[in-house]
Amino acid sequence: MFKKFTDTVTLANGVKMPCVGYGTWQTPDGEVARKCVSEAIKLGYRHIDTAAAYGNEVSVGEGIRDAGIAREELFITTKHWITNRGYEKTILACEESLRNLGLDYLDLYLIHWPAVKKIADNWEEINAETWRGFEKLYKDGKIRAIGVSNFLPSHLESLKARSTVKPMVNQIEFHPGYIQSGLVDYCRAEGITLQAWSPLGSGAVLKDEFLGTIAAKYSRSIAQLCIRYALQNDIVPLPKSLNADRIAANMDVFDFAISADDMAAIAAMEQIGYSGFYPEEAPADALV
Ligand code: A2P
Repeated sequence: MFKKFTDTVTLANGVKMPCVGYGTWQTPDGEVARKCVSEAIKLGYRHIDTAAAYGNEVSVGEGIRDAGIAREELFITTKHWITNRGYEKTILACEESLRNLGLDYLDLYLIHWPAVKKIADNWEEINAETWRGFEKLYKDGKIRAIGVSNFLPSHLESLKARSTVKPMVNQIEFHPGYIQSGLVDYCRAEGITLQAWSPLGSGAVLKDEFLGTIAAKYSRSIAQLCIRYALQNDIVPLPKSLNADRIAANMDVFDFAISADDMAAIAAMEQIGYSGFYPEEAPADALV
């Protein structure tokens, strides 16, 4: 169980990842991304999550440098985009992300979305070839850990049968109202560390009356309840905010504990705040 903001989770290959990350999906490129990332690091975040498809890698990199913290103290993740599937393109895509970020290695590189049957009959080979590129980058020391995002058990099983290194991380949508229990259980059993994207349901769960009642019991905001809820499930949340006070408030989740009854009540909630981005269904070009 995580006890403080600086705690880490140890990935299957021994790499330590800070237990809360700062998310940058939909963070506008330019000054906004630069300032927010720098602010988050100055406030104490050491784990920053971005993606090629977010279009803000350059500004995120600037924010990282502005903060003035030693590279080895930071944990930086970016994601490979769907237009770069395949071995060769994957290597080039990673090099481009490194250039954009101004870094010479990544702590974590993720396949952003799986290729699926709806897109290509040979989806299994496509994912395996992309992953072969990931394994090469990992073995060459350009990436300290490799993983996937939005992979369902079927995609992970397929990859397992066609590769030698198992993904260390799966980053999935996870928040009260959308907890993907089957997928979470599968990843736990496989030793794959989970990260939560949209741990606040992209803001969509923050006005929920039921969650408001539970948060009030602990004198916390719903956002803090959601972040704590992910942590108590051993899932690394990646909350994002463009507001310094809220960036700080989202760190302040280590002096209360959600009771077992309340954890169960949240788990049993009806679905709310779901993004609609289901790997097998959503059109690929809508997925970021
Ligand atoms: P803002 O940037 O104005 O703070 P998620 O991390 O699930 O994608 O959710 C991000 C959304 O939640 C953003 O709209 C963000 O708005 C909002 N948000 C983030 N932290 C908080 C907070 N502590 N209280 C209220 N809203 C928050």
